[in-house]
Amino acid sequence: MQHIISIGDFDRNGIDRLLDHAGQIDKKKYDANALDGRILAVLFFEPSTRTRLSFESAIARLGGTSIAVGSVEACSMAKGETLADTIRVVSGYADAIVIRHPKEGAARLAAEFSTVPVINAGDGAGQHPSQTFLDLYTIRQSMPLDRLDIALVGDLRYGRTAHSLASALSLYNARLHTICPKGLELPATLSEELAEKGMEIIEHESIDDVIREVDVLYVTRIQRERFPDSASYFNVASSYRITPELLADAKKRLIILHPLPRVDEIDPRVDSLPHAKYFEQSRNGVPVRMAMLMQVMQ
Ligand code: CP
Repeated sequence: MQHIISIGDFDRNGIDRLLDHAGQIDKKKYDANALDGRILAVLFFEPSTRTRLSFESAIARLGGTSIAVGSVEACSMAKGETLADTIRVVSGYADAIVIRHPKEGAARLAAEFSTVPVINAGDGAGQHPSQTFLDLYTIRQSMPLDRLDIALVGDLRYGRTAHSLASALSLYNARLHTICPKGLELPATLSEELAEKGMEIIEHESIDDVIREVDVLYVTRIQRERFPDSASYFNVASSYRITPELLADAKKRLIILHPLPRVDEIDPRVDSLPHAKYFEQSRNGVPVRMAMLMQVMQ
């Protein structure tokens, strides 16, 4: 039984294999009945559009079905049932579980109590491995993954997609540039881990400082829901914005990614530029998650 809790559960070969498989699926080379009769439980205790619906789309496209809980209020956790008991019960109803939860470590805890594979769809400010697979897949559609200069922009403290992506890119000899409001730097434990793996991490004051040299601009939303109060959020909100003017000196091959949803960090005028890949990125969630489901459910 294979759980997918952290991108750190994969080595480079494992990541490449999954991306290759997603590429085959994208070309419609897959068995539409591969997961016929299988049931995916989709437990989302935080809001989601892309992750939840693309997992549901993925299982349907493979001939399976899904059962879902969309909030704590909608299930017996509202009556005081623990996450552990919920998982014990749900793993008797389904062949795999996808879980999103506001607490870091919740998916790993779920895996301890589950009798079926668990996929982490985001645990607080921790990890979001399925997002990383589709991020890497999207980059690979434009350029090889090796030796990239990539800028992570935004909320690097609470942004789980940035954490997972940085970890994965340490396997591909990337150079990491970080630009974030004060106080929203990458967690020290993660920076130290990346540095131990030999990753060069360079902090910058502004996007302007780095726009000429990066291949990928990975923009993230300030994670308002993780701030202790509104005042501390508004201190850093709207502190950066990607505009066509900012991109005037960018490399021709630069791509802009964003896990979405965006708030105000990318000007809508950027959407029509060839650099903008974020809607393709969200579309790639389906083939990538189909590959993930086939890996853990077959
Ligand atoms: N990228 C992402 O996780 O989006 P959702 O929150 O809509 O699932």
